[in-house]
Amino acid sequence: MSTATAVARANIALAKYWGKSDVALNLPAVPSISLTLDPLTTETKVTLDATLERDLLLLGGKAAGESETRRAAKLLDGLRARCAETRFARVESVNHFPTASGLASSASGFAALAGAAQAAMGMALRPEEISAIARQASASAARSVYGGFVELPAGVPGDGDLAATRLYPPGYWDVRIVVAVANEGPKETGSTDGMEHTRNTSPYYDAWLHAAPALAADVKRGLETRDLARVGEAMEQSTLAFHACAMAAAPAVVYLQPVTLAALATVKRLRRDGVSVYATMDAGPHVKALCAAEDAARVSTALEATDGVLRIILASPGEGLTIDGVSAWWNRE
Ligand code: DP6
Repeated sequence: MSTATAVARANIALAKYWGKSDVALNLPAVPSISLTLDPLTTETKVTLDATLERDLLLLGGKAAGESETRRAAKLLDGLRARCAETRFARVESVNHFPTASGLASSASGFAALAGAAQAAMGMALRPEEISAIARQASASAARSVYGGFVELPAGVPGDGDLAATRLYPPGYWDVRIVVAVANEGPKETGSTDGMEHTRNTSPYYDAWLHAAPALAADVKRGLETRDLARVGEAMEQSTLAFHACAMAAAPAVVYLQPVTLAALATVKRLRRDGVSVYATMDAGPHVKALCAAEDAARVSTALEATDGVLRIILASPGEGLTIDGVSAWWNRE
């Protein structure tokens, strides 16, 4: 048996990915920029076992459903084909996220799976190869291979190798993400389905495709000079533009809930009071606020007191992949 374990962290998109330019290759239609987050980690152990007749996926100790297992098996198939490996794998994945944080786990999950599986198969792939493999399973996962501030360009249809690149290491800028965990409410539409439905039915999809690259460029320019207002304003516009686009789909894809709007109002009030803080939301109701480290306590207190917010998680810039207990070499460059 060959085995390897990888740890990857969640990431939050400052400039959002929403929509695919090539569904089969899972290529994003727009560029995205993210921040990898501590302490939100997924730990995944891959064991190749000649006695298995199919890949097995255990999430938090429980057998995963058919569609999740298929998604993981597809990633494993791609890697097996690369190195003529014939054994199936037992995949054991655990999220070390504060309970029900509402933060997507597919990014850290597929980054950790790609990192652990290639190591278990005896390959020492380059980060851009691991990122491209993770991206095919879930585009946001391409970004979690790296720590700090990361960019995933838009994909040109047919480009199977598209990967993320690191813009800056985690120590570049001491910002915080304050996650206002909301009441979950009814089950949401997952991001894969939500963005496909948006692409197919929203009259605002073309407008989103047109607006997103400029917003990502603005986030990138703001990062260059550590300009929180510039990054924050573009980040808010990016998230509200994709939500508006999704809400215009038929039928509508609505992730925002009353608590989301209440938390957005808190962020706006804090800004009026002189705190530099900006909000972003993913395919769910939770608001994630970006601010300087020294303002994190004040932002946390205000969001925690907001109607409908269950609890606060404080996240900081985090590292990329760790494989078998060793931080990947590209984290140290
Ligand atoms: C709103 O990466 O989960 O979080 O590629 O279909 O797996 P798939 O989608 P996924 O989408 C993430 C969407 C988002 C914005 C972002 O993280 O950029």
